[in-house]
Amino acid sequence: MSILLSETELQRQGYVHEAVDPRIDLFEAIQDLKARKNAVILAHYYQDSDIQDIADYIGDSLGLAQEAAKTKADMIVFAGVHFMAETAKLLNPGRKVVMPDFRAGCSLADSCPPEAFRQFREAHPGHVVISYINCTAAIKAQSDIICTSSNAIKVVESVAKDTPIIFAPDKNLGAWVQKKTGRNLVLWDGACMVHEIFSLEKITKLKAQHPEALFIAHPECEEAVLKLADFIGSTTGLLNFTRENSAKSFIVATESGILHQMAKASPDKTFIPAPPNNNCACNDCPHMKLNTLEKVYLCMKHEQPEVNIDPALFDAALRPLQRMLEISAK
Ligand code: 13P
Ligand code: SF4
Repeated sequence: MSILLSETELQRQGYVHEAVDPRIDLFEAIQDLKARKNAVILAHYYQDSDIQDIADYIGDSLGLAQEAAKTKADMIVFAGVHFMAETAKLLNPGRKVVMPDFRAGCSLADSCPPEAFRQFREAHPGHVVISYINCTAAIKAQSDIICTSSNAIKVVESVAKDTPIIFAPDKNLGAWVQKKTGRNLVLWDGACMVHEIFSLEKITKLKAQHPEALFIAHPECEEAVLKLADFIGSTTGLLNFTRENSAKSFIVATESGILHQMAKASPDKTFIPAPPNNNCACNDCPHMKLNTLEKVYLCMKHEQPEVNIDPALFDAALRPLQRMLEISAK
């Protein structure tokens, strides 16, 4: 999903460009729309803090998929990126799913084009295909089981030991799962732009400056960064670790949005974002950060842009997702 869509394309996708009256209290207006339209707001931890604060549910990719699977709302407002909203739609074909900004894609999902992936699968016959949820519906439709960062080990271990496995699209998560399970996975060469940019050198320096701090990292980070980590986990896993561990400070290697929940859960602790290898000191995902509170309000007001799935892909994309939910529930 390109951030650089033309104005015509944006309109085709249902954008309603409208200046929002600055006197409107967006928190109140969103609560009002939520009640009137029986809507639920699901938000990922990487969203801006004001979006997290207005959400009905905040979670990691697995939690969001599980929440989407059980909602009774008429409209799901998905404050996250496109593959997450697609997942919600796959699990709720009869409900309306809207996104604040349709251009909120994912570099990792983009790193796996469907036709190239078809050829990759054909070059590895007899393999079970496990795809990380951070992929398009077209890739899900070519997969046997979906996984997230919080259940990837469990999903891989659910496959018989002698069955070869393709793992896509994140090579860093795949390499970590490979190490943890001892399974030999055929990895697709994809990665997340946010998690690949952490600087080993700067992290090493920062750890030396804060010897009391624990270093925690998301498994989408490169192996060299993960080697330094005291704890590795999904966003929910990282949040729970900071809540439950007695340490008072943490260096956090994942997108910066999660720091809002960490600080809320443990106001007496210090959270230091791990430094990236660029001139900007932030770890923002440019896709996640396209969503704003104003756009949440507008998408609820106009019920646009709406997420739909190509009917030709629907059943094939839903099957591996349901398989994941079944394995996760065990
Ligand atoms: P989780 O929230 O499942 O850990 O995933 C992180 C991520 O990169 C989402 O885009
Ligand atoms: Fe995709 Fe990475 Fe952004 Fe997550 S943080 S949405 S994996 S680009």
